[in-house]
Amino acid sequence: NIKACIFDLDGVIVDTAVYHYKAWKRLANEMGFDFTERQNEQLKGVSRMASLDLILGWGNITNKTSEEKDALATQKNMWYIEMINQLTPAEILPGAREFVQICRDAGLKTAIGSASKNTPTILNKLELTQLFDAIIDGNSVSAPKPDPEVFLKGAEAVGVAPAHCVVFEDAVAGIEAAINGGMKTVGIGSIDILTKAQIVVSGLDKLTLDMLAEL
Ligand code: G6P
Ligand code: MG
Repeated sequence: NIKACIFDLDGVIVDTAVYHYKAWKRLANEMGFDFTERQNEQLKGVSRMASLDLILGWGNITNKTSEEKDALATQKNMWYIEMINQLTPAEILPGAREFVQICRDAGLKTAIGSASKNTPTILNKLELTQLFDAIIDGNSVSAPKPDPEVFLKGAEAVGVAPAHCVVFEDAVAGIEAAINGGMKTVGIGSIDILTKAQIVVSGLDKLTLDMLAEL
């Protein structure tokens, strides 16, 4: 039985992927190349530096020093922050706030498990910080998904064993991280992509607690 719900942030609670895409695209364009929305799918759930490495690869750019890479990632993040500073609660994905509240009302613990170092800013802008018993993000983990670290820390922070946790994720690497941590999984997105998830729904607005009981 489920005692805690651990939510990924980007793509589950809010659609920040479009802002990540715009900022990365601008960076790529300034270096003289472009990449597609389809390639952008591969960046979901992937850390900032790993995303940069993928993008540089797409542009066949192989000569950047680690200092130059840090500068590029910092530039991208400045553009990204300019956009997320404009976020409002209106951009919370359909049903997300309601579903987290339903979990809390049912006595379940709630946590965020995200790779993003911008998690505190985003939750603040969306006015959602208070809805979570624990927030584990890119500032407090070292191993990226599919390593289960972020979710295991979330489970520990709310005092629930992994087997009693369910993870809500839109990224393949995130579903794998949850499975690697011994947790139950709900995919948010397409069943064609999230093949390893136990249930897949298009959004939290399509989910009920009864559906979780079947996990
Ligand atoms: C999430 C997003 C990724 C992003 C990563 C790091 O996992 O899905 O697209 O690269 O967080 O985000 P950050 O805000 O730390 O650059
Ligand atoms: Mg995500």
